[in-house]
Amino acid sequence: MKNILVIGSTGQIGSELAMHLRGIYGSEHVVAGYIPGAEPKGELKESGPSAIADVVNAQTIADAVKLYNIDTIYNLAALLSVVAESKPRLAWQIGIDGLWNILEIARENKCAVFTPSSIGSFGLETPHDMTPQDTVQRPRTIYGVSKVTTELLSDWYFHKYGVDTRSVRFPGIISYVTPPGGGTTDYAVDIYYYAVRGERFTCPIKAGTRMDMMYMPDALQAAQMLMEADPSRLKHRNGFNIAAMSFGPETIYEAIKAHKPGFEMVYDVDPLKQSIAESWPDMMDDTCARQEWDWAPKFGLEEMTADMLDKLTKKLL
Ligand code: SER
Repeated sequence: MKNILVIGSTGQIGSELAMHLRGIYGSEHVVAGYIPGAEPKGELKESGPSAIADVVNAQTIADAVKLYNIDTIYNLAALLSVVAESKPRLAWQIGIDGLWNILEIARENKCAVFTPSSIGSFGLETPHDMTPQDTVQRPRTIYGVSKVTTELLSDWYFHKYGVDTRSVRFPGIISYVTPPGGGTTDYAVDIYYYAVRGERFTCPIKAGTRMDMMYMPDALQAAQMLMEADPSRLKHRNGFNIAAMSFGPETIYEAIKAHKPGFEMVYDVDPLKQSIAESWPDMMDDTCARQEWDWAPKFGLEEMTADMLDKLTKKLL
């Protein structure tokens, strides 16, 4: 039986991933790791164990791993791209020093480790259309630099010590449970909140700027499927391109307007977000993930929009 530690369990992805994994492996087998000041609440707190797991304090991770006999770690601790640009040292401490702590503990305790990479690991020189699995990775954000390093360090721990590291390059993740904070793709979440509240949305990204996006249920499925995949089929490890949909602001706006004809959007472009968005892929080629572990997304823009509007209406109104 698996015993799992989810680090960052109160963040956008972690909060839903912990509940998803509890549904599969049993609540008592999934520990919600958190940092002081961001304790689990509600269902996440009540449905299973939780423990302090602060990546910059290795002892807390080691204690949780030993106490709960952990064999698999999902490491969701990170600062997203925009906020990381203003706190680069902290972004590195969490993303890389923290990852080092986790990988060392994983080596000692024979744990598998999932630490997501991102579309942010690519840069301006990367082919933007059908971005290949193996291609140029020269990002100019500290977020991207830390994600490329995450991929390399995770691969190194696998080749050097046999630590079972695996990861995906997540697109922008769209969800309604816990809001993201400080990312370039956050607009594609925010826009639904404005639409449901009946407010005009001001978009920080220029029309025509396409980025890869994915609905949360597919992202959760991807993480869990990859960690369950037959290792003999894996030619890659860290990290797999995974794709579900690609759009610019004008396209998601039209998809929402099909449900809410009165919804209005204006543009007020944020230069930092725009420059980051322009450096990221328009659409990744996820052939390797499909071939090596049968990745296949379920949600496109229309299905996601209908579900987001429905769920957010129940949540907000
Ligand atoms: N959603 C992230 C960001 O915008 C990208 O992985 O920073």
